[in-house]
Amino acid sequence: MSVGEITHIGRPTNRVDGKLKVTGQAHYAAEYPADDLLYGYIVGSTTAAGRIAAMDLDAARQFPGVVEIFTHENRSKAAWLDRSWRDEVAPPGHPFRPLNSDRILFDGQPVALIVAETFEAARDAASLVRIAYDVDAHCTELEAKRAEAYAPPKKRSGIPPPPDPRGDAEQAFQNAPVKISRDYRINAEHHNPMEMFATTCVFEGDGKLTIYDKTQGSQNAQGYVTSVFGLRSKDVRLVNQYVGGAFGAGLRPQHQLFFAVMASLELERSVRVSLTRAQMFHIGYRPDSYHTVSLAADRDGRLQSIMHDAVASTSHYEDYQEAVVNWSGMMYHCDNVKLTYQLAKLDTATPCDMRAPGAAIGVTALECALDELSYELGIGPLEIRRINFASKDENTNKQFTSKALLECYSEGAAAFGWEKRSPRPRAMKEGRELIGWGVSTGMWDAFLQKAQATATLKVDGTLEVATAASDIGTGTWTILTQIGAEAFGLPLEDVQARIGDSTLPMSPVEGGSWTAASNGSAVQAACDAVKHSLFKQARKMANSPLADASFKDVEVRDRRIFRKDDPARGLSIFEVMHAAELTEITEQGKVSPNLRQMLKYISYTNSAVFAEVRVDEDLGVVRVTRVVCAAAAGKILNPKTARSQILGGVVMGIGMALHEEAMTDHRLGKIMNANLGEYHFPAHADIEDIEVIFVDEKDDKVSPLGVKGLGEIGIVGTASAVANAIFHATGVRVRDFPITIDKIL
Ligand code: MOS
Repeated sequence: MSVGEITHIGRPTNRVDGKLKVTGQAHYAAEYPADDLLYGYIVGSTTAAGRIAAMDLDAARQFPGVVEIFTHENRSKAAWLDRSWRDEVAPPGHPFRPLNSDRILFDGQPVALIVAETFEAARDAASLVRIAYDVDAHCTELEAKRAEAYAPPKKRSGIPPPPDPRGDAEQAFQNAPVKISRDYRINAEHHNPMEMFATTCVFEGDGKLTIYDKTQGSQNAQGYVTSVFGLRSKDVRLVNQYVGGAFGAGLRPQHQLFFAVMASLELERSVRVSLTRAQMFHIGYRPDSYHTVSLAADRDGRLQSIMHDAVASTSHYEDYQEAVVNWSGMMYHCDNVKLTYQLAKLDTATPCDMRAPGAAIGVTALECALDELSYELGIGPLEIRRINFASKDENTNKQFTSKALLECYSEGAAAFGWEKRSPRPRAMKEGRELIGWGVSTGMWDAFLQKAQATATLKVDGTLEVATAASDIGTGTWTILTQIGAEAFGLPLEDVQARIGDSTLPMSPVEGGSWTAASNGSAVQAACDAVKHSLFKQARKMANSPLADASFKDVEVRDRRIFRKDDPARGLSIFEVMHAAELTEITEQGKVSPNLRQMLKYISYTNSAVFAEVRVDEDLGVVRVTRVVCAAAAGKILNPKTARSQILGGVVMGIGMALHEEAMTDHRLGKIMNANLGEYHFPAHADIEDIEVIFVDEKDDKVSPLGVKGLGEIGIVGTASAVANAIFHATGVRVRDFPITIDKIL
């Protein structure tokens, strides 16, 4: 079959794994069959701080089908033997070690694992466990701990600290003619991917384990298992072929992995452990945060001073950090900037990365404050953003590798019809609904991480590419297939991508929006290496039509290698491999950040988000009727999956603006809405028109593919655009997220 002019890069392409998913053929971690499987059920603490005084396990032990109960008193001796445990995503501190002691660090903390012949028996027996606690005083309320906030340790955090102050922000604030200083609060949010965290640990015998785990990083999770349990790397294979969403909660190995492996090693049986939806609320969360943002400008709207002080929650055992305020020093041009970021310790689980960690909250506060300043100035909210455009990163004095943000503003505004906006709040109305239009800028890192891949060209001309990447619903599988198909001019069905397995070539966790750029570039490099090998073999054949060609003169396409200037002069892949007595050619490819270039350049994805809300004047009900998100993200590999990423981010941003919040009863230290009935996020009925625009952006430095990544940018700026639209509609400025009806009325 000839593929003619088809190119795969940039073509809207259906997910190659879509059919398997919708027909139930894709197996998730809790769905892999295993012989003689046992089921584990986790028992959680019912207090937030203290010690376990006594455990009555008799009734549970006698329950039919129960095989074993693990607690801190009889936990596996193998666990944590090797103190050099590994988790490439861990913040500074001591990771939570299940069953390590009688100490309680947070409500819902796993304190026992019931293992039974059936899931139902394990669950029923869990309800019979009686535990007495010596209860300590606890605090789960960030407000109460603000006075004890501290600067986070820089060591081993991997997070850039706030930049040093520049200019004199205090003085410039005093001197400026127009200024605002406001406090914002963004409530803690919880990850609620469709798939619950689960592990099926298959006990293979001979000391070998095959582990099916829900994780964003098979190799990180495999490294955790081998280091915690003192196992040999070659004995542990960890598979995460399909991941039903994760949003950052799967970056770190979660409790169920520890429990399934521990029980499997102790009992020498295969074991499955799944978390319940309620237990998902105790594995980490987007931190609760307070922000004070002070902005000052001259009468022309040019920023004279930016100050952003943020305090975010962490646990007692780890200093979880994000880049929260850094954005305020680089999104706009300003000579006087002072940013601080502090943590406060609460009796909760350690927070963890959640889609655009840091930016999702920090940018929201900044962008709401800038909106407030624009009204003080009488300058339009889009105009003030244009006036203060930053053409370099003023935090680091580095050049951007590209920044098509002004195009995002203009193309987004045009699509939205922004010029028809009347500047005054409460000026637009239809029936009982007040209409408001708001805008926000968004920004997220464009990382390139170290990654490796292999490509294998078979004698029949088909291709396999492999890397230990994960597809958390993002479309990784599809874009890697496209990259392989593009390199060899093959139809998609002749390319098989292999991912989601710790035995494949090295990959970082899937996070930070870096997978397409990093693993994609590694796959492309591997494909290039295979083409080079193929060319070498072809050229040295007797009477080769390519004998006098050099590599740049040839193309591989339609299962042939041929001269670009004379396509008839070439060889079939079959002929070449046959002559060389090969059945396949495998080569490796790798990428790593260009450290030299990074001294001078830095890369970000940028966006402009426009939102329309309609607010019922009597009831305070907010509908987000339109969102336009215009993003500049370098080359778009697959407009279809790329658009889906932005849609998902925007929906999550609407949730942040209006719905999502953990409701904690601070007297008990308990999350009261740890379920999908009461923890609200947008349902279909909450989502109306979302338009995604990718502006043209060429970037030859950000990554070998020119790709920036899109997993996170969609949420950044969406909550602020909605909040700003609500102010424009109602004249009410709500600085406490989510913006629920009671706060508007
Ligand atoms: Mo993303 S929060 O890095 O999975």
